[in-house]
Amino acid sequence: SSPRVRLPQRSERRSSALKLQTKERFFPMAEVIIVPGREAGGKLVASEIARRIRATPDLVLGLATGSTPLPVYQALVPALAGVDLSTVRGFALDEYVGLDPAHPQSYRSVITREVVEPLGLDPARIRVPDGRLDGVAHAGEIYEAAIMDAGGIALQILGIGTDGHIGFNEPGSSFASRTRVKTLTEQTRTDNARFFASPDEVPMHCITQGLGTILEADHLVLLAFGSSKAAALAAAVEGPLSASVPGSAIQLHPHVTVVVDEDAAAELARAEYYRYAYANKPDWQGL
Ligand code: F6R
Repeated sequence: SSPRVRLPQRSERRSSALKLQTKERFFPMAEVIIVPGREAGGKLVASEIARRIRATPDLVLGLATGSTPLPVYQALVPALAGVDLSTVRGFALDEYVGLDPAHPQSYRSVITREVVEPLGLDPARIRVPDGRLDGVAHAGEIYEAAIMDAGGIALQILGIGTDGHIGFNEPGSSFASRTRVKTLTEQTRTDNARFFASPDEVPMHCITQGLGTILEADHLVLLAFGSSKAAALAAAVEGPLSASVPGSAIQLHPHVTVVVDEDAAAELARAEYYRYAYANKPDWQGL
């Protein structure tokens, strides 16, 4: 006879909820790796991605834009030399709304320039949310369906905003959110003004994978470099779970690798433990 499933009694449920609040070990912890600099971080993550692509030639990558992942993309070129990449698939995290896809700062253009062309990927297999005004109301659902059709994202590269966003999930975003249109904070628009001729040119709206979408990827790799990220990174990795710090959603995921330089690690309370754990990392354990 098949085993009966015994539902927990009310008292047991309450006590396990209490344990969840008080015993950190009930949350799987992210692995935090403190690297000497951006280049070392880029090489570390690129070697893991290359290993995964060799094993799974049609791997589905989740691609972040912005300046943080650039050392990864640069290191991927030599790491993947001679490897057939014709079946690799990719999904960008987000896109500006209302920016011509041909604009050099559209994330479509950035992904083409920084990832598709240098690696020689098949452009038809690399998707970016459609931020064009006509149709943006349904672009989220279409994007979610495309990710599902691809079998989900295997490895999602993430950066973090100074306000704690991942993707463009600004503070207040639901942990259950899906791909949708968001309004960028003034802080994010100011941070990203460096990519545009003037701050006014930074779009007001974006379309981004939701936190719920991101949490469905098999493996999250969050990178952060520089002192401007230190506070947001510490809040995301060690602070309480809060929609006010969207990056804290990573604490709900069973497989997260956080790769940071010394400056971005400066506010981590458990930095010494992370160094100790990494120095004693078992050989058999990949990233
Ligand atoms: C980009 C993205 C954002 C950036 C974040 C950090 O696709 O989703 O979350 O990762 O704004 O940007 P940079 O790397 O430029 O500091």
